[in-house]
Amino acid sequence: MRISVGNSVQMAKKLNRLTLVKLFFSALIPLTIGLFTVITTIQQQKSSTAQREQDKQDALLLRQQSDLQAENLHKEKVYATYLDDVSELFTMNNSKDTLMKIRAKTLATLRQLDMDRKKHLLLFLYDSELIYHSPEKTISSVLRVDEADLNGVYFRGTVDASCSFMYLYLHYVYLSNASFINCFIDRSNFSFSIMYKTVFTKTRFLRTSFRFALLGKADFSLATFFEMDFIGASLVECNFTGARWVKKNTDFIGTNLTGAIISNELLKKSKLYNSILPNGTWGPILGRNLVVNGNAERNVSI
Ligand SMILES: *[C@@H]1O[C@H](CO)[C@@H](O)[C@H](O)[C@H]1NC(C)=O
Ligand SMILES: *[C@@H]1O[C@H](CO)[C@@H](O)[C@H](O)[C@H]1NC(C)=O
Ligand SMILES: *[C@@H]1O[C@H](CO)[C@@H](O)[C@H](O)[C@H]1NC(C)=O
Ligand SMILES: *[C@@H]1O[C@H](CO)[C@@H](O)[C@H](O)[C@H]1NC(C)=O
Ligand SMILES: *[C@@H]1O[C@H](CO)[C@@H](O)[C@H](O)[C@H]1NC(C)=O
Ligand SMILES: *[C@@H]1O[C@H](CO)[C@@H](O)[C@H](O)[C@H]1NC(C)=O
Repeated sequence: MRISVGNSVQMAKKLNRLTLVKLFFSALIPLTIGLFTVITTIQQQKSSTAQREQDKQDALLLRQQSDLQAENLHKEKVYATYLDDVSELFTMNNSKDTLMKIRAKTLATLRQLDMDRKKHLLLFLYDSELIYHSPEKTISSVLRVDEADLNGVYFRGTVDASCSFMYLYLHYVYLSNASFINCFIDRSNFSFSIMYKTVFTKTRFLRTSFRFALLGKADFSLATFFEMDFIGASLVECNFTGARWVKKNTDFIGTNLTGAIISNELLKKSKLYNSILPNGTWGPILGRNLVVNGNAERNVSI
């Protein structure tokens, strides 16, 4: 047998190639399995991650719901406790001391309530005549709710539920973003209150005081006014579209009407001494003691 060197080299090369191919194929199987395993694992991981994410979100939602419920329950409890405490204080006696206690409780409670409960608290105080200043009552027997946070309370008169206030006493309170829509407000006192963007659309006002109130951007469209007192109020950018002064002129003495939307006809029927007119110019100047509200820069937020 003669095996040439060349042949044997060729054989070896062939063998080598064969081995390589074999090796390649034999390696391919575990490789494929490995790859498959890797891919499946990744997919499994992915789906379990998605599951975990879903679980997490479900848990979060559940927690949020129960948090909301707990918060709601807490507010309800705060409000109920307030009613009990104040009712008890109120039936005991009406001394100055008692009013001070009610005041403290009222301010602390209001800070914890939502707009709807704030509204009910306000109605409670009004109905129990604590913030009701009729001529028979001395000012010292009226509850001072100065600085009470009543922002956002919402009242709207409808056919079913009237919105009517008489002798309402809300001196120096926060009433921004509040609404008194289609209401009837008589002989009430909102002096020095902060009422930024408050809505009074279609409300009928009688003999009510907004003395030195901050009423920036308030909406008085379609409101009617009778014997009002706006002395020193900030009426910057107020909307008086379609408003009416009934019989008498309205006192805008010492007000700032910059940017207010108000017809020339209504302006002619108003007393504008020492006021800044809608176009930014001064109205007639009369004496020194009737000054435009010096508190215009008072902080509106609390
Ligand atoms: C009213 O309450 C205060 C404090 O609770 C008490 O000191 C006072 O004696 C009471 N007055 C009347 C008339 O009951
Ligand atoms: C009033 O509402 C506006 C949004 O309309 C809000 O930015 C602002 O903080 C609110 N102010 C108060 C005092 O609630
Ligand atoms: C409104 O309340 C203030 C503060 O108590 C008082 O000085 C003012 O006379 C009251 N105005 C009216 C019209 O009752
Ligand atoms: C003023 O009020 C009228 C009537 O409600 C309304 O149509 C108008 O858009 C208001 N203007 C502004 C600047 O808000
Ligand atoms: C009136 O209001 C405008 C706009 O807010 C303000 O720039 C101006 O200083 C106010 N004027 C006075 C005298 O308060
Ligand atoms: C500003 O408005 C008043 C009242 O509407 C008007 O009499 C006056 O001429 C106006 N001034 C300017 C500079 O437009």
